[in-house]
Amino acid sequence: MKPKVIVNVAMSADGKIALPDRSEVKISGEEDFKRVHELRNDVDAILVGIGTVLADDPKLTVKDRFVEDPKHPLKIVLDSKGRTPKDAKLFREGDFLIATTKKIDQDGWIKCGDGKKVDLSKLMKILEKKGIESVLVEGGGEVIYSFLKERLVDEYYVFVGSMVIGGRNSPTPADGVGAQDIDDIISLKLFDHQTLDDGMLLKYRVEYHD
Ligand SMILES: NC(=O)c1ccc[n+]([C@@H]2O[C@H](COP(=O)([O-])OP(=O)(O)OC[C@H]3O[C@@H](n4cnc5c(N)ncnc54)[C@H](OP(=O)(O)O)[C@@H]3O)[C@@H](O)[C@H]2O)c1
Repeated sequence: MKPKVIVNVAMSADGKIALPDRSEVKISGEEDFKRVHELRNDVDAILVGIGTVLADDPKLTVKDRFVEDPKHPLKIVLDSKGRTPKDAKLFREGDFLIATTKKIDQDGWIKCGDGKKVDLSKLMKILEKKGIESVLVEGGGEVIYSFLKERLVDEYYVFVGSMVIGGRNSPTPADGVGAQDIDDIISLKLFDHQTLDDGMLLKYRVEYHD
């Protein structure tokens, strides 16, 4: 069975996830950080795009400050052009997997398709064979939109922080090309909400229609 895919992202009240130059903004507070680290500890893998690695250099670990005896899920990066820096912080601890395309030949990297970007359906099949049952997609906007567009997302969680970032070039939770007409719009069904810190967590199921 395809791994369950959960998207988790934090955005400002005006729907932005970082500054226009893509540098990181602390949108969540302690309560939401704790929730995210518990969620990371519950899944088999955490996935980000190379854009997020280059912008934020995340560790993608589970902090023992939030979770006792954390299990450290597999970290996955989508990188079709081989741009992941060798000293990226995600390499420091735990297991990782870089998913790329046929053009890139790097020891240990996994080739998913011969297109311009990592073929997500192929990646899901590889992960399924590895026994991965759940994947947490943490960003950024390009990667989240690809997963949504490929109809691979089961649940979409967004924390809305009490701030306005603004800027027409600031990244949003779902960038990429976006819907080209009304039929491309992806429907969500709200199933849970919760006040955390001074923001709101919204949890949706994704409803793909034929
Ligand atoms: N607030 C939050 O919760 C949060 C979380 C994470 C990130 N962010 C922010 O998001 C921004 C980064 O997002 P981003 O959209 O620029 O980058 P991204 O989504 O992290 O990565 C996009 C890149 O991944 C690669 N990729 C490979 N296969 C792909 C596929 N099938 N679909 C899509 N991308 C694929 C592509 O680069 P190649 O062609 O080179 O492979 C693509 O340009 C940063 O500003 C970061 O701070 C915010």
